[in-house]
Amino acid sequence: MAHGVYPELTIPGTQNPNRPTIFLNMVSTIDGKIITGDRDQSVHDLGSAVDHATMKQVQGQAQAVIIGAGTLRATPALNYSPRLMRFVVSKSGAVDGTHSFFTQFPDQTFVVCPIETCQRLPEDLQSISFGEGEIDWDKTLEWMKRDCGIDFLLVEGGGELNAALFSLDLIDEIFLTFAPKIKLGRDVPTLGEGLPLPRGSVQRYDLISCIPVESEIFLRYRREGRSVG
Ligand SMILES: NC(=O)c1ccc[n+]([C@@H]2O[C@H](COP(=O)([O-])OP(=O)(O)OC[C@H]3O[C@@H](n4cnc5c(N)ncnc54)[C@H](OP(=O)(O)O)[C@@H]3O)[C@@H](O)[C@H]2O)c1
Repeated sequence: MAHGVYPELTIPGTQNPNRPTIFLNMVSTIDGKIITGDRDQSVHDLGSAVDHATMKQVQGQAQAVIIGAGTLRATPALNYSPRLMRFVVSKSGAVDGTHSFFTQFPDQTFVVCPIETCQRLPEDLQSISFGEGEIDWDKTLEWMKRDCGIDFLLVEGGGELNAALFSLDLIDEIFLTFAPKIKLGRDVPTLGEGLPLPRGSVQRYDLISCIPVESEIFLRYRREGRSVG
């Protein structure tokens, strides 16, 4: 059985009392692509067994995980520890209520969406909606922290959700695996999509660790200057 690269991982909390510490875990090809097949297909074959084991170790630091609806639609099997709360972000409301993501632990699973999306969701799904037209992330994250007691939130992509959170400078740490593969493609998704940041707003991260295992590299970054405690 493969072992992950972070046997004794701890993630320091931010000092922000209004939101969880937010960390991202993704795997990418050498040319920066985050898929192997098409966008609507799963990426189980991008990282190695070591990457999959590492993903579980990173999940071990979280109390909740959040993904974009595109990732949910692309991934028929998503297995999380029963102790994790689960959130999926959608504007359209086009989520499959019969997906195991919802049915495994319905009490601890929520759709995060703008207010008007709620009425388009399948029946019986729980939702959390702050903001009209667009999700109000400040209020959403404050609710997670204050009402759900979530101190550590893991973001697992895809590129659209990541971009929404990066654009608000909300990602405290990044765990990134480089798989020794090339995918190519101008329109193939990368770790962060959305709109480009202006030159003066380009974000810098400090390298915390860099662990090669065979031909894969496991990188860990922390947002520059982000206070921890
Ligand atoms: N390599 C990796 O580590 C990794 C990780 C995760 C996913 N992936 C792959 O990435 C692909 C999925 O990527 P994706 O481009 O579809 O991205 P995504 O971020 O998973 O999903 C995009 C969708 O999420 C919803 N969404 C995201 N941000 C939102 C926001 N701020 N407000 C409202 N809704 C928001 C929207 O859903 P609606 O359309 O419902 O409005 C949007 O269309 C899949 O192929 C998946 O396998 C790879």
